[in-house]
Amino acid sequence: MYGGPVKIFGAELAHPVVNGSGTFDALAARRVFGEQLDARFPFAAYVSKTITLEPRPGNPPPRLWELGQGMINSIGLPNKGLARFIEEDLPAYAMLPAPLIVSVMGFSGDELAAAVEALGERSEILAFELNFSCPNVETGNIVGSSPEETAAMTSLLRGRTEKPLIAKLSPSSARPDQIALAAEQAGANAVSLINTLPGMAVDPSGGGPWLGGGGGGMSGPAVRPVALAQVSRVAEAVEIPVIGMGGVSCGRDAREMLDAGATLVGVGTENFRDPAAGERILAELRELNQSSVERK
Ligand SMILES: Cc1cc2nc3c(=O)[nH]c(=O)nc-3n(C[C@H](O)[C@H](O)[C@H](O)COP(=O)(O)O)c2cc1C
Repeated sequence: MYGGPVKIFGAELAHPVVNGSGTFDALAARRVFGEQLDARFPFAAYVSKTITLEPRPGNPPPRLWELGQGMINSIGLPNKGLARFIEEDLPAYAMLPAPLIVSVMGFSGDELAAAVEALGERSEILAFELNFSCPNVETGNIVGSSPEETAAMTSLLRGRTEKPLIAKLSPSSARPDQIALAAEQAGANAVSLINTLPGMAVDPSGGGPWLGGGGGGMSGPAVRPVALAQVSRVAEAVEIPVIGMGGVSCGRDAREMLDAGATLVGVGTENFRDPAAGERILAELRELNQSSVERK
């Protein structure tokens, strides 16, 4: 049965649809919609925007390039840093009607370990997602492209918190199954993929890069076949749950991600087009239980 409750990380989620980190600002949505949002909260668990130990301004503009079937972003992980996240955001996230997964990234093992340790005792947090795979910061893909680095980083963090760890993997690896296995063997409780694919847009007026950061990360429907291939390859290789995302924009896409072996499905870019996408995708997914589906 598609769209039913899912047991993961010792919790029971109401359904399998979650957000991709950085693609749905639940705190801004709550400021606008107030308690209305609680009654119609689109995700079974909420994944925060990636935070880093120190505040980051992000990349210079322009930060987005639209494609017919998705976009390239060069946001560059702007965030207020760990201290203000703990003080200002964590209490607000705790008010959401869904368990919280905090996405963290560091520029060294020590930075990541410090973030995980500072947050590790907080009961508001269900799990950590370790962003080993952001193409928009200089060191972003280094860990997630190497099984050895992924294993070393995961086991370092495994020693620092009892909370479940989700390794978010890069789509840039030729062998995502080996990276996922390395994360599993080092103590990760789940893997999530795909993050955005490295991409570039050229300034139509001049030939140089359009995006302020030079390159960017590509996402949306265009990356869905890549995501499906990687999710199914990884799901065959590991025993831990896989959180599958990349280009999911309707119930049928979500079902294909589940059929490819994902336990949870992440919705990313579609949230920008339709802020109620999570709710719609879940409803469409559940409808597929009742009707036979024509192939695309
Ligand atoms: C504007 C934007 C910002 C993102 N920010 C983050 C982030 O902070 N951390 C992260 O792990 N992934 C981030 N992602 C990647 C998404 O969570 C997701 O892995 C990716 O976009 C693929 O899913 P999609 O095609 O449904 O968007 C971002 C994606 C977009 C489009």
